[in-house]
Amino acid sequence: MARGRFITLEGGEGAGKSTQIALLKTALEAKGIAVIVTREPGGSQGGEEIRSLLVNGETHRWEPLTEALLNYAARYEHLQKLILPALENGTWVLCDRFADSTMAYQGYGHGMDREIIRRLHRLVVDTVTPDLTLIFDMPVEQGLKRAGLRGAGEDRYERMGREFHERLRQGFLDIAQKEPERCALIDATGDIGAVAMAVAAEVSHRLKVDL
Ligand code: TMP
Repeated sequence: MARGRFITLEGGEGAGKSTQIALLKTALEAKGIAVIVTREPGGSQGGEEIRSLLVNGETHRWEPLTEALLNYAARYEHLQKLILPALENGTWVLCDRFADSTMAYQGYGHGMDREIIRRLHRLVVDTVTPDLTLIFDMPVEQGLKRAGLRGAGEDRYERMGREFHERLRQGFLDIAQKEPERCALIDATGDIGAVAMAVAAEVSHRLKVDL
């Protein structure tokens, strides 16, 4: 059986990833493709427990390296328990955030030594690389406003201040520019239908499906 495809969705707060991931799942399933949707941090039972440590509570409760370690611990569980078995089974995996979020948030946002993140990545993730990464981009102000409208809870990062969010937006733009083969930049400022069309166009073109 052919291995499933691994698609990750990345971007700052309030960029509309959750809506788009659900639409993409429906579009792929309509083509007879088996799909699971998952997220990071989270996606496995242990990963979800780690998630709640990361997304709730005091803004400065963790050192940046601790955040990176917690995310990579959750990621290892996620890969072993869910992502790799699904891909081997021929199922496509749509993942709301993956390793680029650690580089953008802990690396660019918190200013962590990026070489340490790359070393952690080699240790934990090794050669598992997404077939496609969709990077949702929008101005920080617009994203934070939309994220705020979603309501309270899981908002530890939303509270981190405008400059932090500007740095991580720049981080995602740098990643997209450095790895154009893997990454497609999606203008997330349009309405839901326009963004869905841009997503479908990238997936169709790059992964050779007709959405
Ligand atoms: P979200 O999935 O609802 O956007 O929430 C997850 C939060 O965790 C989000 O603010 C980004 C942050 N995050 C990191 O800081 N590092 C990571 O490696 C990951 C996966 C997420």
